[in-house]
Amino acid sequence: MRVLIPAAELARRVAELAARIDADYRLVAGGRRGGRPRPQDDPLMAVGVLKGSVFFLADLLKRLRVPVAVDFFQTASHGSGGENRGEVRIRKDLDLSIRGRDVLLVEDIVDTGFTVRTILDLLRYRGARSVRLCALLDKTAARQVEVPIDYRGFAIENVFVVGYGLDHGERYRNLPYIAVWQAEGEPPAPPTAERSVSGMQFHHTDQAPAAIGPYSQAVAVDGWLYTSGQVGLDPATGELVAGGFEAQARRALENLRQVLASAGCGFADVVKATVYVIDLADFPRLNAIYGEAMGEHRPARSTVQAAALPRGALVEIDFVARLRAGAGASQAAD
Ligand code: IMP
Repeated sequence: MRVLIPAAELARRVAELAARIDADYRLVAGGRRGGRPRPQDDPLMAVGVLKGSVFFLADLLKRLRVPVAVDFFQTASHGSGGENRGEVRIRKDLDLSIRGRDVLLVEDIVDTGFTVRTILDLLRYRGARSVRLCALLDKTAARQVEVPIDYRGFAIENVFVVGYGLDHGERYRNLPYIAVWQAEGEPPAPPTAERSVSGMQFHHTDQAPAAIGPYSQAVAVDGWLYTSGQVGLDPATGELVAGGFEAQARRALENLRQVLASAGCGFADVVKATVYVIDLADFPRLNAIYGEAMGEHRPARSTVQAAALPRGALVEIDFVARLRAGAGASQAAD
């Protein structure tokens, strides 16, 4: 299994969503003046869908300051890999009345859309004052019925994911990150970091090739993470990936993504990159692949042509990244 969204990334996004929800529900709408502060006896009704949304819902609600009441639906789930044909059965209904209330439906993932479509319609039918949807994950490519997502955590590819509440056959809900489920293989071991007397943390993850000499995949110190160079080695085989420059560049970046994730960072935290290429003629191809990975983010970068790289690789990349507050410490095994 590979980590798709690391724990630190989830925490950051949940905090952003909570801030938006808090701002939107601070007032009870009414009249031309835009509303009055929400009283305790008119709480926002947060409705979770059991069981998957429980982890997300708990983290989200702990960050809200508006008065909140909580209730749950349980629907019949996909089962293990079964097809959802649009028939959604309610296994457990709400305990509380939602008539005249502002309701926020909190869901872990919107896949075909049948589950939330059914619940949203039911909530409206029961006379809620307003109904909005907050979904952590959105598999847009799998959608079969339209559902407007008012607060969306992440758009993800059409793959089966586990962790942070999501299961496969009731397993993996307690993973602190979201991973792509694969039939073979166990979930990635939690990344480790050893702290030395000098205050440096030496990071290691099995999701990237192990260091093949007296060095670490990455070292964190004083709020910064310094990674070793990564080439396009497949961590599973220890061999360079086939497919030439482009495949190697993609693999090197994926290895770095995993190293960053082991320290609770992502590409958005990278401040400086150094890229070594065997042939500077590959510069445009490098830029295309690198730009795809970085999105809008534009860290500083040096690109140099090297005479040779380890294992005959065509490209090697290393990063300096800023650690997120608390991320390094929580990963430390000291
Ligand atoms: P939908 O009705 O197809 O949108 O499916 C929603 C439900 O299917 C979610 O609440 C999950 O329980 C389940 N589900 C869909 N995709 C995944 C996945 O990738 N991992 C785990 N559960 C999933």
